Amino acid sequence: MAPNTHFYAAVVLAWTGLVSAHAAIWHPSMFGFNQSSTNRPQDPLYNLTFDEWWFHGHLGFPPHPEDVMQLAVGKPKMIEISCDKDATSYWTSGPGGDQQSTSQPDSPCPGSPTTAFHANNINDLGGCALAVAYKSDANEVKPDDFIVFSVNHTCVWNLHTYFSVPADMPPCPNDKCICMFNWIHLPDSGSEQMFFNGFQCNFTNAQPGKKPGTPQVARRCGPEASNDFTWNYSNCTYGPKQPLYWLQAEGNNMFEGYYSPPLLNDLYNFRDGAQNDIFDGDYNKTTPTPSSNLAASPSNLAVRIANPTPTSSSSLSHGTHTPPCESIPPTQSPSHASASGCSSHAHSGAATPTAGGHHGHQSGQYAAKNSHKYPGRDMVHAEEQAVRRAWGAHRRRSVDNHHP
Ligand SMILES: *[C@@H]1O[C@H](CO)[C@@H](O)[C@H](O)[C@H]1NC(C)=O
Ligand SMILES: *[C@@H]1O[C@H](CO)[C@@H](O)[C@H](O)[C@H]1NC(C)=O
Ligand SMILES: *[C@@H]1O[C@H](CO)[C@@H](O)[C@H](O)[C@H]1NC(C)=O
Ligand SMILES: *[C@@H]1O[C@H](CO)[C@@H](O)[C@H](O)[C@H]1NC(C)=O
Ligand SMILES: *[C@@H]1O[C@H](CO)[C@@H](O)[C@H](O)[C@H]1NC(C)=O
Ligand SMILES: *[C@@H]1O[C@H](CO)[C@@H](O)[C@H](O)[C@H]1NC(C)=O
Ligand SMILES: *[C@@H]1O[C@H](CO)[C@@H](O)[C@H](O)[C@H]1NC(C)=O
Repeated sequence: MAPNTHFYAAVVLAWTGLVSAHAAIWHPSMFGFNQSSTNRPQDPLYNLTFDEWWFHGHLGFPPHPEDVMQLAVGKPKMIEISCDKDATSYWTSGPGGDQQSTSQPDSPCPGSPTTAFHANNINDLGGCALAVAYKSDANEVKPDDFIVFSVNHTCVWNLHTYFSVPADMPPCPNDKCICMFNWIHLPDSGSEQMFFNGFQCNFTNAQPGKKPGTPQVARRCGPEASNDFTWNYSNCTYGPKQPLYWLQAEGNNMFEGYYSPPLLNDLYNFRDGAQNDIFDGDYNKTTPTPSSNLAASPSNLAVRIANPTPTSSSSLSHGTHTPPCESIPPTQSPSHASASGCSSHAHSGAATPTAGGHHGHQSGQYAAKNSHKYPGRDMVHAEEQAVRRAWGAHRRRSVDNHHP
C-alpha cells in the first residue's frame, strides 16, 4: 500500500496526543446499559456492519419497559456523559465501584486528560445531539426515522451535559418514543469514529399540535477553512435533519473523508440548543436552489433577508416575514439568535483552527474520493489497546487513592 501522509499524521497525533478513551450517555433507559465487558456503550463505532452499529448492536439488550427518560418540553435536560459508568451516578450497576470524582465532578473522564474524550481543548469539540423516532418499538425504527431535536456544541466536555428540548415536541405514542445520542468528534485527537446510544424517552407536558417534518440528510455549509470561514447558505439543509451515520462499513448517510468528519454543529447547520425548526409548516423544507446571487457571505444574506423576494418559496423567506433563525448569521443578530435558541458562536467548533496547523491538510478533503482513506484496523486496534492500558492504569491509581 502506498504511504499516505495523512495516515502517518494521524498516527503521530494519536500517539503524541496520548491516547483516547471514549464516551457514552448513561441512563437506565438506554439499550446496553449493563454491558460492561464486551461491546460497552462507550466503545467507538468504526467500519461496522449495520447490525453492529445500529443501536450499538444493543437491540438485544433492551432497558426495562418502564425505564423511560422523561424529557420536559421547553426545558433543558441534564444527561450524564462519561468514559466510564463508574464515574456517573449509576456506578452501582457499573463494573468497578464508585469512581465519581470530587476534585473533577464535571469531567466526563475524571483523572484523564481531555484527549481521553478526543478533545485537545474546549475549542476542539464536534458537538453531540439527541434525536427521536416517534415509534415505541425500537425494532421498528429505521435510520431515517430519527429527527435531531437537540444539539449541544460544547460536547463532549461536561459529565453533566444539558440538552434543550423544543417546547413544541408532540407527545409520544403510548408515552414512549425511541431516542438516540449521536456524537462525532474532531479528527485531531485520536482516531475517528461514530457514537450511537439508543434509549427510551417520553416528552412530558407535551401538547398535540405540531408535527415534526420528514428529516433530511444534513449538508456541509458552515464556516470552515476550505471556505474562508464563511457560510455557504445555499448548501445548507434547513429544517428537520437526520443524525449523522458515518464511517461504517454499510448504512452511512454521510460519506465525508476520514479527516473531514461531519459534525453536529454549525458546519452542518445544526444550531446550538433546541432544534426549533423541525416542525411541519414552520419553514420550507426544500433545499434552497443554488444560485450565484446567494453567495456565502453574511452581507449578501442580509440583503436577501431584508428584501425577500415575494415569489420566492425558499427557506430564506418563508411566509411569516420573520427570517428563520437558520438563515441568520448569529453574529449579525444575536438577540434574535438567542431568543430562538440559535448559536451565537458562528465561528466556534469545527471552524476554529487549533494549534499545530494540521488543519491545513484538511481543506477540501471532504470530496467523496477521499472517503476511504481510513487508517487500517491495526492502527485503530493498537490505539484501543493503549487507551485501555492508560484508562486501566488511571483506574488503578484512583482506586489506590480512594482506598489508601
Ligand atoms: C442493570 O443492572 C442493575 C444492577 O445489577 C439491575 O438492577 C438492572 O435491572 C439491570 N438492568 C437491566 C436492563 O438489565
Ligand atoms: C451544553 O452543556 C453545557 C454543560 O452542561 C451547558 O452549560 C450548556 O448550557 C449546554 N448548551 C446548550 C445550548 O444547551
Ligand atoms: C409521557 O408524556 C405524556 C405527554 O406529555 C404525559 O401525558 C405522560 O404523563 C408522560 N409519562 C410519564 C411517565 O411521565
Ligand atoms: C455541500 O454539501 C455537500 C454534502 O454535505 C458536501 O459534500 C459539499 O462539499 C458541500 N459543498 C460546498 C460547496 O460546500
Ligand atoms: C455553495 O453551494 C452551492 C450549492 O451546493 C454551490 O453551487 C456553490 O458553488 C457553493 N459556493 C461556494 C462559494 O462554494
Ligand atoms: C416550498 O417550496 C417548494 C419549491 O419551491 C414549493 O413548491 C412549495 O409550495 C413550498 N411550500 C411551502 C409550504 O411554502
Ligand atoms: C473494514 O472491515 C472489513 C471486514 O472486517 C475489512 O476487510 C476492511 O479491511 C476494514 N476496512 C477498514 C478501512 O478498516
